[in-house]
Amino acid sequence: MANLLGIDIGGTGIKGAPADTTSGELTAERLRILTPPGAKPHDVAKVVAEVVGHFDTTGPIGCTFPAVIQHGVARTAANVDPSWIGTDAQQLISQFTGRPTVVVNDADAAGIAEMQFGAGKGVKGTVLLLTLGTGIGSALFVDRELVPNTELGHMEVDGHEAEKRASEKVREDNDLSWEKWGKRLDEVLQKYEALLCPDLMILGGGASKKFDKFSDHLHTRTQVVPAQLLNEAGIVGAALAAAHT
Ligand code: BGC
Repeated sequence: MANLLGIDIGGTGIKGAPADTTSGELTAERLRILTPPGAKPHDVAKVVAEVVGHFDTTGPIGCTFPAVIQHGVARTAANVDPSWIGTDAQQLISQFTGRPTVVVNDADAAGIAEMQFGAGKGVKGTVLLLTLGTGIGSALFVDRELVPNTELGHMEVDGHEAEKRASEKVREDNDLSWEKWGKRLDEVLQKYEALLCPDLMILGGGASKKFDKFSDHLHTRTQVVPAQLLNEAGIVGAALAAAHT
């Protein structure tokens, strides 16, 4: 068993725990520290080091980050401080923690975990996982191989960015009914379906726990199911990504 530390960097909290990469189980209670105000690169790296120091694991660590991450470098900053663009997140966190580090996009990490241990287990063909949270994250798998950084939350649907219409945050901020939000989400999913012809779509993030409240409003041809790993998908996916370094 490989017991590796996974860290999920989000806009509000930085969460970490060691995970058994053969079972997907967390092997210790997770630690969550609030994301520092402004979430600037050095401040975030400092908190990541604090989380790492809390656990007695050795070896590489995996981190998620909510932006395009190309070979460790952040390339976009839709919901994070713009100074992340061009920052080698992998190198920075490795410097602060003293550990070999792998950084991957947050939705890609959730997808990696869900394909291994959750709703995508054993599923071949084209699988699209979406995380519905502050934004909409996407992770695309073709025959179980990840196509990283697809960023479908920024695709235009009905004149608006998908994540500005149908993220969990938009539902909460605008107090949308499940029906109204479900219909918006359906439009978004239909666009993705037209683009990719997926065999399966998996919905993660906060809304995955409330799937029954809006699933009647989804009318894609593609089967849509809720994610199974819930809050832990990012941590587990990050640990799996670290296992492949
Ligand atoms: C970002 C993605 C991220 C998603 C979910 C989007 O705004 O561009 O990189 O995966 O939010 O956090």
